[in-house]
Amino acid sequence: MAVRLGLAGAGRFGQLHAAVIAAHPGACLSAIADPCVERRQELAARHGVAKQMENAEELFADPDLDAFVLVTPDELHASQGLAAVASGKPVFIEKPLATTAAEAKALQLAAKASGSLVQCGLILRYELQHALLQQELASGRFGDLVSLRVKRNVSASWFEPVADRAHTVFETLIHDLDLLLWFSGSTPRRVMAMERRFGTHRSPEGCFALIEFANGCIGFAETSWFVPARAPANVSTEAWDGSIDAEVAVVGTRQSAQLRLLDSPLTIWSDDRICVPDSQLWPQIHGQIGGALQRELHDFIETARSGVASMTANLDQAVAGLQLAEAIVAAAQSGQAVRL
Ligand SMILES: NC(=O)c1ccc[n+]([C@@H]2O[C@H](COP(=O)([O-])OP(=O)(O)OC[C@H]3O[C@@H](n4cnc5c(N)ncnc54)[C@H](O)[C@@H]3O)[C@@H](O)[C@H]2O)c1
Repeated sequence: MAVRLGLAGAGRFGQLHAAVIAAHPGACLSAIADPCVERRQELAARHGVAKQMENAEELFADPDLDAFVLVTPDELHASQGLAAVASGKPVFIEKPLATTAAEAKALQLAAKASGSLVQCGLILRYELQHALLQQELASGRFGDLVSLRVKRNVSASWFEPVADRAHTVFETLIHDLDLLLWFSGSTPRRVMAMERRFGTHRSPEGCFALIEFANGCIGFAETSWFVPARAPANVSTEAWDGSIDAEVAVVGTRQSAQLRLLDSPLTIWSDDRICVPDSQLWPQIHGQIGGALQRELHDFIETARSGVASMTANLDQAVAGLQLAEAIVAAAQSGQAVRL
């Protein structure tokens, strides 16, 4: 029998999630919850979804649903996640898992108590280039890990809508912090950080952190929102258009590696722009969403079907990322090193 899924959030990313779920032969997108009537009606009509609801919480009370996918605003993830795990059913929560480490811990405890399998949107673990790099790192062929540098500079035009929602460390850098934890295979011990602010928003426009790991590796993480409008575009969907200028640089005593998201073999030039079509994260091809988002949701659907936790992304990893994120914000705001 198909896994019956309830989706909360019919916004930009929720629409991509809906497309992946609706196209999966072993899943049924059975309900959509969103307070915006127009958005949920349009999405439900597009995928022939039987039930529509106003609020995520209504999904969790529906006995006809087997699992939930939360793609709602960051600040709702913790409370909705807690309500969802109380059902004991599998729950996928988009990143960030929560906006404080305490909320993330509470979610972890509640999930353990109810037996609910929780997966967080650690999407880069499902991206093939990153997964190949992690496999190479885990082989030991790099020797001792000297340093790991991760960078995420995104389109300036994307900042305003999210600038007062969550600190950028939780909004963007959370992906890269997960990479640092995954690639280093170690635990952070000490963090130093600085921010750059150009306005009065809740979030700074840039944040830069140095992280010392237990195995001696030094992590350097940077994020900012300053990619200009005419930079090569690697995100081009109906709802989003712009660039994610992300990089990873690894230095080991025997090998080093570089990974740049904008280095795609396919580049399309036109009079007003250069486009580097996304083939890695959520590419749209033949009317379907592929790439890491597809692999990630297929993994969750398999978890919901089998009752076996994912081998790729789990709740403990997301909680560790949140703890590191919180330490970085504290270090940036206090000007002091923070020990973990
Ligand atoms: N993994 C990634 O790379 C990635 C990329 C983009 C977005 N995201 C995450 O996905 C989430 C959604 O982002 P978005 O850009 O789609 O935001 P969005 O604002 O476009 O969509 C959020 C939707 O949630 C709905 N909503 C609000 N309250 C709700 C409630 N109580 N119940 C149900 N729905 C509710 C809103 O009406 C809106 O339609 C965010 O947490 C974001 O960080 C992750």
